[in-house]
Amino acid sequence: MYDFNELTDRRGTLSIKWKGVGEDEIPAFLADMDFRSPPSAVEAMQKCLDHGIFGYMADDAEGWRLQQEWWKRWHDLEFTREEACYSAGVVPAQVASVLAVSAPGDTVVLQEPIYPPFFSAVKNHGRILADNHLLRTDEGWRMDFSDLEDKFRAGAKVFLLCSPHNPVGRVWTREELGKIADLAARYDVWVISDEIHGDMEIYGHRHISYASIDRRPDRVITLIAATKTFNLQGLHQSTVICRDAETLGRIRSLISNTGAGGPNIFGQAAQNGAYRGGREWLEELKKVIEKNIETVRPVLLEKGLWCAKPEGTYILWVDGSCLGLSGKELVDHIRAKTGVIVTNGSDFGDGSFFRLVLATQTARAEEIAERMKRL
Ligand SMILES: Cc1ncc(COP(=O)(O)O)c(C=O)c1O
Repeated sequence: MYDFNELTDRRGTLSIKWKGVGEDEIPAFLADMDFRSPPSAVEAMQKCLDHGIFGYMADDAEGWRLQQEWWKRWHDLEFTREEACYSAGVVPAQVASVLAVSAPGDTVVLQEPIYPPFFSAVKNHGRILADNHLLRTDEGWRMDFSDLEDKFRAGAKVFLLCSPHNPVGRVWTREELGKIADLAARYDVWVISDEIHGDMEIYGHRHISYASIDRRPDRVITLIAATKTFNLQGLHQSTVICRDAETLGRIRSLISNTGAGGPNIFGQAAQNGAYRGGREWLEELKKVIEKNIETVRPVLLEKGLWCAKPEGTYILWVDGSCLGLSGKELVDHIRAKTGVIVTNGSDFGDGSFFRLVLATQTARAEEIAERMKRL
């Protein structure tokens, strides 16, 4: 019903993904889709635009209701308006959350390889980073629970969870999340769960919100957004949820202390429109993503470029070590040979890997697959 085949042209716009990309190149490095957002989101923004008056925005009770319904229906996450606050993006919310529940010198655990701002949320604020490195197995990526327990036992204050995980594409199971919850309760660790990729479950996997599993809901902070799901990243709209009123108050102050804490009417309109009428669009999108993965992954495997089959996200995390290069040299080599621009794995903590984002039209994914044969 929706057109995911049209080769949208983003050249000449302010898209980071397409800026400086050569005529014969394909950018596949940024978690940003080449698709138009669902019509219900665009129409909601259009209505706002047509009004022609863009003054300060009041709290949007209907917007909260839509978000609450969506997250309860699809991810078992329940929260009230009082347990949530707005943030202009998940990354600033991560930082505010880390600051709110830890002090300089405290240890924060994360799981490398990981989306780079996780590092800065810890290291740029005087916290100590402990890497509970994910394990590569024949069945795909797994958590090392024994190491996680060691880190918690050694006194970690916070676990910064990426769920689903960028870049390895795991949608953590109820059992895995339950193990984290048991350990976090035993060692009294705060869990900050970044669930920005939550809606992008594929191949029948289901994202369950961590807060619905932890028996200490007042020791959990959940970060959610509609931006990744519906390609609204440039609108900077996200939500922080925490049952503990004092902690949420601290987060809210950290976010708004600069005076820059308010929502924007376009972000809210788009989010409301997407939650109201975007479900079918999302289901169709996921089919396209699955097809893209099925198109590109076999070629990579044939070339000796191992990557696990993702369960969520539109990302492949690819082992490029057979090419004998790493970091910038590896991505420069891939760009020179194929014209495909991929992400430098060093930024995620492992330069022998690169990240390939398949949030594009299948014709472009097919082109990427063809070009990967040159490696
Ligand atoms: C795990 C994760 N968190 C946060 C973000 C970015 O969030 P925002 O653009 O809302 O700051 C991304 C973007 O790729 C991400 O992968």
